[in-house]
Amino acid sequence: MSEYDVIIVGSGAAGLTAAIALADHCKVLVLAKGELTGGSTAWAQGGIAAVLDAGDTFENHIDDTMIAGGGLNRRETVEFVVENAPHAIERLVEMGVPFNKDAEALHLTREGGHSHRRIVHVDDATGWAVQAALLKTAEAHPNITLLPGQACIDLISGKHELRYSGSGRVWGVYALDEKTGKVHAHVGRATILASGGAGRVYQFSTAPRGATGDGIAMAWRAGARVSNMEMMQFHPTCLYNLDVKNFLITEAVRGEGGILKHPVTGHRYMPDYDVRAELAPRDVVARANDDQIKRSGLDYVHLDISHQDPDFVAGHFPNIYEKLLTLGIDMTKQPIPVVPAQHYTCGGVLIDLDGRTDLPGLYAAGECTESGLHGANRLASNSLLECFVFGEAAAKHIIESWDQLDTPPAIRPWDASRVTDSDEEVVIKQNWTEIRRFMWNYVGIVRTTKRLERARHRIDMMTHEVEDYYGHFRVTTDLIELRNLLQCAELIVRSALHRKESRGLHYTLDYPDLLPQAVDTVLVP
Ligand code: FAD
Ligand code: SIN
Repeated sequence: MSEYDVIIVGSGAAGLTAAIALADHCKVLVLAKGELTGGSTAWAQGGIAAVLDAGDTFENHIDDTMIAGGGLNRRETVEFVVENAPHAIERLVEMGVPFNKDAEALHLTREGGHSHRRIVHVDDATGWAVQAALLKTAEAHPNITLLPGQACIDLISGKHELRYSGSGRVWGVYALDEKTGKVHAHVGRATILASGGAGRVYQFSTAPRGATGDGIAMAWRAGARVSNMEMMQFHPTCLYNLDVKNFLITEAVRGEGGILKHPVTGHRYMPDYDVRAELAPRDVVARANDDQIKRSGLDYVHLDISHQDPDFVAGHFPNIYEKLLTLGIDMTKQPIPVVPAQHYTCGGVLIDLDGRTDLPGLYAAGECTESGLHGANRLASNSLLECFVFGEAAAKHIIESWDQLDTPPAIRPWDASRVTDSDEEVVIKQNWTEIRRFMWNYVGIVRTTKRLERARHRIDMMTHEVEDYYGHFRVTTDLIELRNLLQCAELIVRSALHRKESRGLHYTLDYPDLLPQAVDTVLVP
């Protein structure tokens, strides 16, 4: 067993922000599955939204966030995040993030749903620069221990105490050391989940391999409520390529003038769907692309920015430009074939403005949460921002309530005495593939009750098989992830069946209208 003051699950924007904010006060352990740079943070392209322009106001950013979110957002959360955004950007600049500049001021790009230019960015690879700066700061702090290669399995709670105290507290996590195959308990006075989204529950996703909703599933199993899991965001423009499956083409391409066209007729179709055309919020553009593809039996649609100055295009999107050249596409001269793909998990573990979950001692921040910021559809570039604001908020609350946080009791070690090595790994591969395929086909951009019920039926059958497997065989990262993917799929489908309207990202042919009141889908374990 290892003991620190605070245990953080995740080394992306949310986890590292919290660790850095805590480290002057206490000893922090940051656990990550695989590499420290393996989360979505390192993959972020477009940038971070903040009101920094003289012509822009907090009110504008709040309104844009609420409009994109279909009114399901909690206004106090939106205000909290938007008002803290300039400070978050300042902190990143201090940590050395080399944001693009226009003379002395930060350069602001534009994305769908934003009424003003307000996205700070580092070319078209903002996430990599942010991840690098946060890691460098964390690595330099003597109170932060970074431990990659640890797949957390479950939260440690009352039932794992050697002498049951009845406190209902969370004390840390059991984690599989991916190198040795041993499971260790890591305990602390407080635990922060910053484990990212569940995008890999879908066959096509822009998210990295480890986005399997582990934190959401762990919190749910431990007794925390989750909310709005039906609100899965699909990005309209993921590259269509038979070899490169999940390469995003940033929304900033549309922000800088890119237009969507039918690949056969060349018709610019977005104005037919929405007056905001290519700069409508993501749910609208993703549905339009999906409609064009299904209506005409296409494999993809075209995103075209070749009418802009070639030096501007190659200079503004250097990474995308280079990547596409290696695939034989010159985006300064020809259109890019794109399709919609899962991109962001708007729902998650319910938290308050201090990052507190329902469970004493358990905090959460970032994509694994439902803070009230995104509502029914996340506004572009509000996600990294949420990580910085809530990573810091959770840290602040832990520091302020330090004296009320008990030290951990003795915890039972992980019991592997009744399991053996698997001789049927095929079960894992089969189920992984199956979940992702039926979630894409039955619980995708456009839903029906019948398809959701088909998905639910499959989940019920698979749950039995996966739990049986989990009970008999030694854990591996693949098995941990499969169990969590299935749990997240169940939460998504249950939430989707519960919502009897079409709002934001949840669009169902059986209930195409909006109900008069916006109500969260809150699931209670
Ligand atoms: P992540 O960065 O995903 O980190 C999760 C961490 O948790 C990782 O360290 C992972 O190893 C760890 N973890 C997960 N499970 C376990 C486990 N069981 N045990 C131990 N560790 C675990 N948002 C924007 O605002 N602007 C953008 O421009 C933007 N572009 C994007 C582009 C792409 C391609 C993608 C996929 C997303 C983009 N997003 C963007 C969304 C944004 O990147 C993410 O929402 C955000 O980075 C999430 O940060 P996080 O800290 O919550 O989680
Ligand atoms: C993008 O660059 O299009 C992604 C931005 C985001 O997800 O916020």
